[in-house]
Amino acid sequence: MLSLGIETSCDETAASLVENGRVILSNVIASSLKLHRKHQGIIPEIASRAHIESISLVVEQALKEAGRKIIDIDLVCVTKGPGLIGSLLVGISFARGLSYALKKPLVGVDHLEAHLYASFLSNKPAMPFMALAKRKAKPLPCRLIGLVVSGGHTSLFLVKKGFTFKTLGATVDDAAGEAFDKVAKLLNLGYPGGPEIERIAKGGNPKAVKLSCMGPEGLDFSFSGIKTAVLYKTQDTRHKTQNADMAASFQRAVVEALVEKSFSACARHKIKTLVIGGGVAANNYLRNRFNQEADLRNIKVYFPAPALSLDNAAMIAGLGYQLYKHGKLLRARGAWRE
Ligand code: KG4
Ligand code: ZN
Repeated sequence: MLSLGIETSCDETAASLVENGRVILSNVIASSLKLHRKHQGIIPEIASRAHIESISLVVEQALKEAGRKIIDIDLVCVTKGPGLIGSLLVGISFARGLSYALKKPLVGVDHLEAHLYASFLSNKPAMPFMALAKRKAKPLPCRLIGLVVSGGHTSLFLVKKGFTFKTLGATVDDAAGEAFDKVAKLLNLGYPGGPEIERIAKGGNPKAVKLSCMGPEGLDFSFSGIKTAVLYKTQDTRHKTQNADMAASFQRAVVEALVEKSFSACARHKIKTLVIGGGVAANNYLRNRFNQEADLRNIKVYFPAPALSLDNAAMIAGLGYQLYKHGKLLRARGAWRE
């Protein structure tokens, strides 16, 4: 079964063809990021207009790269939310039109849930132009704990057989990626801030500045206080802190909070599989810390291919296929199908 995925929740216009929910045949992404850079954040109106300009071309390119025709599509899957409303509307309207014209079913996919599905996609052969190394499909576990860490969300889920997601905890204020972006701005680094902080943190001491963001008790997170702490510490003229030390200490504090809560969720629910997804999961310091801790606790931790940590449509096509197959659409988180 060939599913087409369409993703337009933020600044990426993406389309992908995936076979049987698991094998990526193409994965095309057009980003309007450069138009937003000077604003140090995403401007919704600019993003929506860019989606309108790119969507047909991106879908055509995805078909071309997969060597398939439009009539080969069996299922249309589209991000239904969460995301910027104007951006979502472009993808959803396009997908509805296509599904109607092709007389093929349409599946609405939750963006956060799809980030967790990204770890279970495979591709053969390697797709170097997409930074995707050859990767075998991992077996789908019956139960898992999922951590989504992106620019808009930081949430922990319990995922059960048949792709039912239960939220166990979430940020009560800023998302982890948002904190990376805001702290990068304070340190006069570029946007998006995550990759910039990771780059300069390599030359810094993660224990140089005392920072912590363990947040509320339980499985919720909080990342707004640490941003203010960084602001005060950068303004403190008595103790001059190097940017690299600040970045490394900030990165460490955020990652420790994510590690602590994720492994507590595994312990509480007696689950031995932890899956991480979302843009911040591209961070190598984070990956190393989770892998270290997983080894100590005898837990399996899965990450997507680095290129699939960020927004993409392969994860939408993949999870859309599973939802369709399990017929869970109307029961699980109000997804819809026509
Ligand atoms: O999942 P994503 O592409 O979009 C949303 O759904 O939000 O995530 C984007 C976020 C941004 O906040 C960006 O700064 C962060 O992911 N990010 C990173 C890294 N690469 C991207 N954060 C930390 N380290 C990175 N290497
Ligand atoms: Zn995302």
